[in-house]
Amino acid sequence: MSTSSRWTPDSWRQKPIAQMPAYPDEAALRVVEEELATFPPLVFAGEARALRKSLGEVAAGRAFMLQGGDCAETFSEHGADPIRDFFRVFLQMAVVLTFAASRPVVKIGRIAGQFAKPRSADMETQDGVSLPSYRGDIINGIAFTAEARTPDPHRMRKAYRQSAATLNLLRAFAQGGYADLERVHQWTLGFVSGSPAGARYEELANRISETLNFIRACGITSDNSERLRTTDFYTSHEALLLPYEQAFTRVDSTSGNYYATSGHFLWIGDRTRQPDHAHVEFMRGIKNPIGMKCGPSLDPEELLKLIDILNPANEPGRLTLIVRYGADKIGNYLPDLLRAVKREGKSVIWSCDPMHGNTITASGYKTRPFNDIMREVGNFFDICQAEDAYPGGIHIEMTGKNVTECTGGAQSISDTDLSNRYHTFCDPRLNADQALEMAFLVAERLRRDRAQAEPQAASGF
Ligand code: PEP
Ligand code: CO
Repeated sequence: MSTSSRWTPDSWRQKPIAQMPAYPDEAALRVVEEELATFPPLVFAGEARALRKSLGEVAAGRAFMLQGGDCAETFSEHGADPIRDFFRVFLQMAVVLTFAASRPVVKIGRIAGQFAKPRSADMETQDGVSLPSYRGDIINGIAFTAEARTPDPHRMRKAYRQSAATLNLLRAFAQGGYADLERVHQWTLGFVSGSPAGARYEELANRISETLNFIRACGITSDNSERLRTTDFYTSHEALLLPYEQAFTRVDSTSGNYYATSGHFLWIGDRTRQPDHAHVEFMRGIKNPIGMKCGPSLDPEELLKLIDILNPANEPGRLTLIVRYGADKIGNYLPDLLRAVKREGKSVIWSCDPMHGNTITASGYKTRPFNDIMREVGNFFDICQAEDAYPGGIHIEMTGKNVTECTGGAQSISDTDLSNRYHTFCDPRLNADQALEMAFLVAERLRRDRAQAEPQAASGF
């Protein structure tokens, strides 16, 4: 069978491939690929290994995974403010989950490389004119002109430079004092501070400050404790554009293994997980922790086959299954997957993407009702509990900006509000307020489940 044959960073090229852009100038593509292969890596193998170890704790039910960010990063929105604002909300979510659920949160952004998008149709037609679909800024432009829509390999260079700059700032935020727990009050964004979620956060931040006062009195401060002063933050994206991913796949001199160095964690999308196709072939050979989206077209037998290909040694933390069914459908599919995985004794992390199965169109906009998003998360927890599986994480599309892209939430964004601040190039994202509200709901659920499972450990909260 194909999977037993030798893996190399380019062995995916021998396989059928879905979602590959049609570059008109193959020679230009090759030149760019060769150049990218000489560029410095964005992340180190040791970091990917550390993440894998932390995800091993999630697989064991002792930590929770928070993954989120833009559906697609764009060249036009590249700047310090959106990165900082995203990071602030993400830290707030993480702190809510850590404090309320009393367990470590593994923080992974959909950022610093999340550019390439799978599309359901190759072509888009407007007023009788058909052009290639927009596939993300790393591939082509969103403007509806033949020039913009033609896949251009040089865009990969720009995506790499932008990812490097984004990651540089994120590293500074995570390690340079911005993420210091003593600053827990300062992460709130102005427009969130007056909302119910903002008020709840303020309350929680007060309790954290009190706790910090106590431990400061005991002699532990952010000056002498790196754990209080810094945080671990990792990057992730969909490994869709394989020429780019191959160029950044490097041998780690410590272990002699191949690692993707374009991000810490890569995932396979719902449209590119055919077991005998190129994306699965590429992903099986890299040692990073990886994810795979699971949607309605995946049956349990195929899932088991994919698990054997992607995690043959059954290592905890290697493989995260990101389920994305929709609030009404998750109950029809997830139980069978959970049972098959349990029956075969496979170690995976179950994470819930409550975004991609709940997309509807309203007032001409692609949107997602916040209630449906939260209902899917609730159903995910219920089903995992009923099947005795650990609900290990959530995977969301979110931004620190005050956008109106998903309806509902405490601000009660209505269909007619969508046009006010609808900025996404791709899928609708939770705004900062909705993201924080979700963190509180998930934290409550984690705390409740834990109180049921271990009444002593959870007492006091
Ligand atoms: C995404 O995560 O943006 C995405 C395209 O998801 P999926 O592959 O699950 O459709
Ligand atoms: Co999306």
